[in-house]
Amino acid sequence: MTQQIVVTDVGPRDGLQNQPRLLAVEQRLQLIAAIADAGVNSIEVGSFVSPRAVPAMAGTDVVMAALSEDGPVHYTALIPNMKGYELARAAGARSVTMVLYASEGMAQKNVNMGMAKAEAVTADILAAARGDGIEVIATIAVAFACPFDGPTDPGVVRAVADKFLAMGADRIVIADTIGAGHPQQVRSLTAELVRDHGAARLGCHFHDTRALGLANVFAAVESGIRRFDASIAGLGGCPFAPGASGNVATEDVAMMLEQMGFDTGIDLDALLRASDLAEELTGTAPGGRAKAWLKPWLAKRAG
Ligand code: COA
Ligand code: ZN
Repeated sequence: MTQQIVVTDVGPRDGLQNQPRLLAVEQRLQLIAAIADAGVNSIEVGSFVSPRAVPAMAGTDVVMAALSEDGPVHYTALIPNMKGYELARAAGARSVTMVLYASEGMAQKNVNMGMAKAEAVTADILAAARGDGIEVIATIAVAFACPFDGPTDPGVVRAVADKFLAMGADRIVIADTIGAGHPQQVRSLTAELVRDHGAARLGCHFHDTRALGLANVFAAVESGIRRFDASIAGLGGCPFAPGASGNVATEDVAMMLEQMGFDTGIDLDALLRASDLAEELTGTAPGGRAKAWLKPWLAKRAG
């Protein structure tokens, strides 16, 4: 039986939050629709953060409220704190993605909290979300290295993951926020997590800063991980993490996994249309490496 892999496109959040050009809500919705039309059935559509801190994400409430939860697509939005949770709930979000930290430096710079405070807030959000019937994904930032504190101890990441899986987080995402991890580190950390918890509630999030994005996806696939974040046209980068560049491109991830025989449910032709749109709207999307090769290949296949 073909094995399925779920790709969550985080371009409308991780991508757009860092672009010089601010998109209108309508344009953000247009991009989300194009990604969904390509069969990407999980999308991170924005973040409920301070519009002063991240102007590009102002209006995520309008974006979220415009999306239908009845279709096949799973929508989530990033939140940094309890206020973000409340705003997401008010906008009708059925899933939120809360950020945890594997370093003090990143927790301070990103959300002005320590690691312990972010954990306490996440515990409160989990309790509230249980009552509200809202899914909580917890993503562990700087899981391999921090731009402020240096290399991350994998034991710290494992401890945070263990704690929040036990506490009932629907999913834990291991995030290489600045693209500093290499495949051997990824293989070892993800293999331990899969051994301890199974793969169903685990995911990975890689940035392609050093051209290791796909290699890291492959290493995690080898460990049994079956959920990956990726970003349309390789958009991405955290405004508060110096050196963070784009996420691994959805096109690259989808092409590799499909050719390896996994089922992502993604239609590559339609995905390239979404990628072209992302480039057109932002003017700066780096684009993945796959697109230039895929375009003539798909045209030839169509005959
Ligand atoms: N959404 C919108 N506004 C928020 C908010 C949220 N989730 N959380 C706090 N605020 C508002 C407060 O209401 C307050 O507004 P006011 O000055 O008009 O009264 C202001 O932001 C400051 O609140 P405070 O609790 O003191 O937070 P802070 O100044 O310590 O900032 C964050 C913390 C988290 C709000 C801010 O750093 C942030 O939004 N960062 C974004 C992080 C991010 O998106 N990183 C990239 C993805 S990981
Ligand atoms: Zn990221």
